[in-house]
Order: sequence, then structure tokens, then C-alpha cells
Amino acid sequence: MCKKMGRSSKDKRDIYYRLAKEEGWRARSAFKLLHAEETFGILKGVTRAVDLCAAPGGWSQVLSKYLYEPRSAEDRKQVKIIAVDLQGMAPIEGVTQLRADITKEETAKAIIEYIGGQKAQLLVSDGAPDTTGNHDLDEYMQGQLLLSALSIATYVLEENGSFVSKIFRAGNTGYIFKQMQRFFKDVCVFKPGASRNSSIEAFVVGRQFCLPSNYVPCNLITAWIDEDPQTWMVQKCGKVAKPKLRVPFVAYKDVLDADRSYELDENYRYNEVVQKPLTAAYQDVLQKTKNVSIRYKPIVIHHTEPLES
Ligand SMILES: C[S@@+](CC[C@H](N)C(=O)[O-])C[C@H]1O[C@@H](n2cnc3c(N)ncnc32)[C@H](O)[C@@H]1O
Repeated sequence: MCKKMGRSSKDKRDIYYRLAKEEGWRARSAFKLLHAEETFGILKGVTRAVDLCAAPGGWSQVLSKYLYEPRSAEDRKQVKIIAVDLQGMAPIEGVTQLRADITKEETAKAIIEYIGGQKAQLLVSDGAPDTTGNHDLDEYMQGQLLLSALSIATYVLEENGSFVSKIFRAGNTGYIFKQMQRFFKDVCVFKPGASRNSSIEAFVVGRQFCLPSNYVPCNLITAWIDEDPQTWMVQKCGKVAKPKLRVPFVAYKDVLDADRSYELDENYRYNEVVQKPLTAAYQDVLQKTKNVSIRYKPIVIHHTEPLES
């Protein structure tokens, strides 16, 4: 009895975790992409999509369900969905997996090769580092994953394509928004219903992709560009565009509250998770850092001699 109550307590505390199991999604994060689709219609007409940081595969399932499953056997040949992650994931129909690091340029090239010289209409990235508990470091690392995803987008997105990436709303977002506005005519920050209000997580959505004239794709982490926004906005597609200093914030209109506990009714039946991860995230690193703490601790320096005035 106690064991059963223990098993269901997460179902009670997390409505999207429960719904994900009921509806057959591998991860509750699937709802975040579904909410983005409902709000922006980003999956409409898409046949070539890239899912970065895809394991265990919730977003790839959504892509398969919307882009691959509804099509005839003949039309399915046109559909290319590539899922990239450091971790392996169990297969999903219509999705090709690439086990690779998104911070590497070779990964962008491997994606282009898979799509067969064509470009993708959509790139999504749910990249999150293994959090350390040091918020500044976690935010910085997540920002690097976002910039890597944006760099890959500059190689693989076709004109007018869309981009969705996780972002931690923190100190470095101003720089990230500047970079986003270089490549997308429409940029906003989106908070899906499945993302808890208490979390700093949100998603940056870029629509109407357009490479500035003469722009050569590169790694935006190493090729640090901090020009005057006026200069690069003028270059954008040869048109004059004024930089927007504020990026709009769009929230999903939800009837459920991801931060609330919901009572389980009498028809409630416990479901096992749909697909357990094939490997625990960062297994090697976890093993190596078992007895090491990298939490931030201020260092106190004691002076034995009186300081000279
Ligand atoms: C929040 S999970 C993604 C969940 C996924 N969207 C889903 O719906 O199942 C974050 C993923 O980012 C991956 N990741 C982190 N750093 C990465 C990197 N440098 N290259 C590729 N994947 C990375 C992790 O392995 C992890 O699987």
C-alpha cells in the first residue's frame, strides 16, 4: 500500500508528468513543444526538422507524430527528422539519430549531410547541461548550448525557417537576444504551460530566418560578435531594420498549473514511464565527481599582518 502511494505521489505533484505517461510521451517536456506548436504553428508544412539535445526523445516523438505519421508511405520518404544528443535514445519511427556534441562544427556538417544537401525548415533545441547547483555556472553553460544551437541553425536552416530553444532567463540573455535578432525577423520569449512558473526556464522562438548578406556560418561561441546593433541590422537581408531593445514575452494560455498538486480521482490508474533513458545522463562524469563538490563557496582570506594604510 505504502509503496503504491509512494509511486503515485509524483503523479499527484506533477500533472504533466502524469499526462505524459497516460498519453504515451517519453518525457513531460513533449508538452512544451506541443504548446509551442499550438501557439505559433511552427510544425505546419514542415518536412525537414532537426531536434538538438533530443534524448530521451519526447520532442522527437512530437515531430514524428506531426511530420511523419500522418503522411502516406510515399510522402514519408520526403520527411527528414534528425535527433542529436550525447546520449543514445530508443528508436522512434521516422527519426534518425545522431550521437554527437552540438558544440562541435562537425555536428552541423553531419546534419547537412543527412538532410542530403537540402536545408531544414525547423530547428528545435531543448539543451540543458547537467546542473551543478552553481546557478551562475549552470546559466552560463545553458547559454553556450543555446549559442551552439543557433550556430547550427545558421548552417542548416532554410530562409523563413523557425527556431525554438530552451533559455534560462538570466543575466546573459541580452547578448543572446541580440544574436537571435541578427538571424530572425521575429524573436520572442515563450513560456509553455508545462514549464513551471517557479523555474527560470523559458524558450526563445525565432521565426522568419534570414542570413545577413555575405554572412559565413561559424561557431558563435568562438566567433564573438559584439558589433553595434545598428550595423548588423542594416546588413540584414540587405534591408534596413531597427533593433528591438525589448523582446516580447508570450505565455501559453493553460488551464492546468504545472506548479500545483492535483488530487488523483477514483479512476486513477498508475502508469509506468513510457521509456526509461538508455543511459543515465552524464554517467561517466557523475562517477568521476562522486566525492567532489563544485558548489560556489566564498573564499575568506585572513590577514595575519596589519594592512598598510
Ligand atoms: C532536457 S533534456 C532534453 C529532453 C528532450 N527534449 C525530450 O523531450 O525528451 C536535455 C538533453 O541535452 C543533452 N545535451 C546536453 N549537452 C549536450 C551537447 N553538448 N550536445 C548534445 N546534447 C547535449 C543531454 O544529453 C540531455 O539529453
